[in-house]
Amino acid sequence: MSDDVTMDKIVSLSRRRGFVFPSSEIYGGMGSTFDFGHYGVLMKNNIRELWFEAMVRNRDDIVAIDSAVILHPKVWEASGHVAGFTDPLIDCRTCKLRFRADKLEDSNCGLKPSKHPGETPECDLTEPRRFNLMFETTVGALQEEGSRAFLRPETAQGIFINFKNVLQIARRKPPFGIAQIGKSFRNEITPGNFLFRVREFEQMEMEFFVPPDEAEKWYRYWIDERLNWYRRYGLRDSKLRVREHGPEERSHYSQGTSDIEYEYPIGWSELEGIANRGDFDLTQHTEYSTTKLEYVGQDSERYVPYVIEPAVSIERIMVALLVDAYDEEVVGERERTVLRLHPKMAPVTAAILPLIGKSDDMVAKARSLYEDLRRRHSVEYDDSGAIGRRYRRQDEIGTPWAFTVDEQTLADDTVTVRDRDSLAQERIAIPEVRDWLDDALERDWKSPKGS
Ligand code: GAP
Repeated sequence: MSDDVTMDKIVSLSRRRGFVFPSSEIYGGMGSTFDFGHYGVLMKNNIRELWFEAMVRNRDDIVAIDSAVILHPKVWEASGHVAGFTDPLIDCRTCKLRFRADKLEDSNCGLKPSKHPGETPECDLTEPRRFNLMFETTVGALQEEGSRAFLRPETAQGIFINFKNVLQIARRKPPFGIAQIGKSFRNEITPGNFLFRVREFEQMEMEFFVPPDEAEKWYRYWIDERLNWYRRYGLRDSKLRVREHGPEERSHYSQGTSDIEYEYPIGWSELEGIANRGDFDLTQHTEYSTTKLEYVGQDSERYVPYVIEPAVSIERIMVALLVDAYDEEVVGERERTVLRLHPKMAPVTAAILPLIGKSDDMVAKARSLYEDLRRRHSVEYDDSGAIGRRYRRQDEIGTPWAFTVDEQTLADDTVTVRDRDSLAQERIAIPEVRDWLDDALERDWKSPKGS
């Protein structure tokens, strides 16, 4: 097994197998912007679905919302984003590149041989300026007449401004949560490292409203819950850690923040953040909107709840899963690349393959099994090329099982099932395949790469 996984290998596999393409390529590309191909879409669907299952469907205390991307501009004044969602920016007058002032050590200047900005006598750096990361747009037919608005840089604010609606209509009482999945946009100065930092990404956020004196308890609870979610879906323990922010590092709204970090090929970096936002957001929106956002209990008990927020993007999870799963090994003198993904995260759950693609009988049997399984699972039928090549294609996209129809199938109605990781094969009767697959998906799963 190999743990020598570079971002280049992940980018190359993602492109080769149609997970992720560089965006707008036929126009010369658009740096650090990506389009998702078929398997990328299937994998994103799985990540989204499994997050939603854990955060909403399996719980009595969390409901969902889907708010607009373009909200009233005052939302962003109240939230502090207009004034404070900025990065310090430095331009180089010589190489014309732009850098984050707080990340000069991690940046490369445009001159060759490349050094850090400011390290060569030719570097001519400006003073740092504050640069707001929100994308601006104009709402209205004519630019001059329209009003200035923003694409949301986080989904969280769409939740806070609906607090009263949910409290009344869903008849909730703290502790309860509101979850949202949707695109967020940030004009990052230094995007990069594949999908790790991009300008548009799909966030999954949940705001959990609690009585203030329970905030610390729920903050710890959500750190554990989210860490366990990553473990359940196969990320190795040795690659996960929790890092608590120091007071100087926290966002303006935060009373405590912990990052769940993953050891990406770029080093330990934030996968998901869990923050105790206190009563900052509800208080700010109360002030700016003059609508009271508070909880009033039956015996006139009233308070502004504190908020605990787990926030992550599908893109960061996808990179972590791909890196964790990527493996190269030699089997019978042939090299294979395999994605050892958790079966529920894999884009395709099973492949159905006739051993001989030109055999009408095998094709008919395989297609019939495929038609049966596709009603409940993401399965793929493939009859083109040598069987070894077809297995390897499935290995590269992480398909955990392949059912193969062969000569014996025609005689006794059984198929072989090949396991992606162990390469073991067993025979099962076709009428049992559906149950076998249902059971296999529910088994506990640990990465074969170890812990
Ligand atoms: N509502 C709080 C919030 O947005 P954040 O730490 O700025 O906090 C939360 O972002 C999560 O969103 C991060 O942990 C990361 O998973 C994801 N994220 C943030 N910026 C991103 C970017 N430019 N590209 C991909 N994912 C990003």
